[in-house]
Amino acid sequence: MSALLDVQDVHTFIGQFHILEGVSLRVEEGQITALLGRNGAGKTTTLRTIMGMTPPARGAIFFDGRPIHGLPTYEVAQLGIGYVPDYRAIFRHLTVEENLHLAERRKGDLKRKADFIYHLFPDLARLRHLKGGQLSGGQQQMLAIARVLVPDNRLLLIDEPTEGLAPVLVEQLVEAIRQLREQTTVLLVEQNFAVARHLADTFVIVDDGRTVCQGTMEELANDPATVHRYLGVAVGGEA
Ligand SMILES: Nc1ncnc2c1ncn2[C@@H]1O[C@H](COP(=O)(O)OP(=O)(O)O)[C@@H](O)[C@H]1O
Ligand SMILES: [Mg+2]
Repeated sequence: MSALLDVQDVHTFIGQFHILEGVSLRVEEGQITALLGRNGAGKTTTLRTIMGMTPPARGAIFFDGRPIHGLPTYEVAQLGIGYVPDYRAIFRHLTVEENLHLAERRKGDLKRKADFIYHLFPDLARLRHLKGGQLSGGQQQMLAIARVLVPDNRLLLIDEPTEGLAPVLVEQLVEAIRQLREQTTVLLVEQNFAVARHLADTFVIVDDGRTVCQGTMEELANDPATVHRYLGVAVGGEA
C-alpha cells in the first residue's frame, strides 16, 4: 500500500547542527499517526522538514506519491498539507471570523466549511466576533486548528495541541481531533501518552533525531518497555 506521506531517511541541519539523522515514517490515508519522542528528540523539526521550513539535506519525502522535498513551504501547503505549529498561530488583533477568512486558499472556502468547523468547535461559533487575543489558551488552540480546516487539506501536521491546557479543554480538543479522522489524515505530535494512545491508529517514535520504531498504537500500548525507554512514562499513566 502506498502511504499518503512517506518520509525516507531524512537528514536535516539547523545551522551547523545535524538535528535529524535518519527519520523515516509513513502516514496512511484516513489514519491518525502519533509522532512520539522525548523533549528535544526532533519531532518539531520533523514537521518543519516536511513543510520545507528546514529542508532536508538528504533523504526523500513523498506526498501522495509525489516528491515534495526541496519545494518551498507555500507550495507544500498548496498541495494540501496544513501545519499547526506548537505556538498558537493566530492573529490576536483580528476576530475569530477574520482569522478563519484569512485561512482561505480559494474564495468561498470558509463558506463551504463554516458549518463543519463551527459544529466541531461550538466555542468558536459563539465567540466568532471576539478577537483572537481575547480567547482562552484552549480556544486559541481550537482556532489554530480550525484555520487549517478552512482550505481543502488532505493531511494535517499538528504539534502538541494539548500542551498547557486544562483537562476539560484537553478532552474537548481530543474529541474534535477524533472527529477529524473522518475528514482528513493527521500526523500528531503529542506528549501526553494517554491522549496519543486514545487518538492514534499508528505511532512512530523518534529519539535523538532518528526513527527508532513504528507500528500500531495497540502494539505500543502492549510494549511498556519501549514506552518507558523512549517516552519515559508508564503506559497507563499521564507522565
Ligand atoms: N534553531 C535551532 N538551533 C539549534 N538547535 C535547535 C534549533 N531548533 C531545534 N534545535 C535542537 O534540535 C533538537 C530537536 O528539537 P525539536 O525538533 O524542537 O525537538 P522536539 O520537538 O522533539 O522537542 C533539540 O536538541 C533542539 O535543541
Ligand atoms: Mg517540539
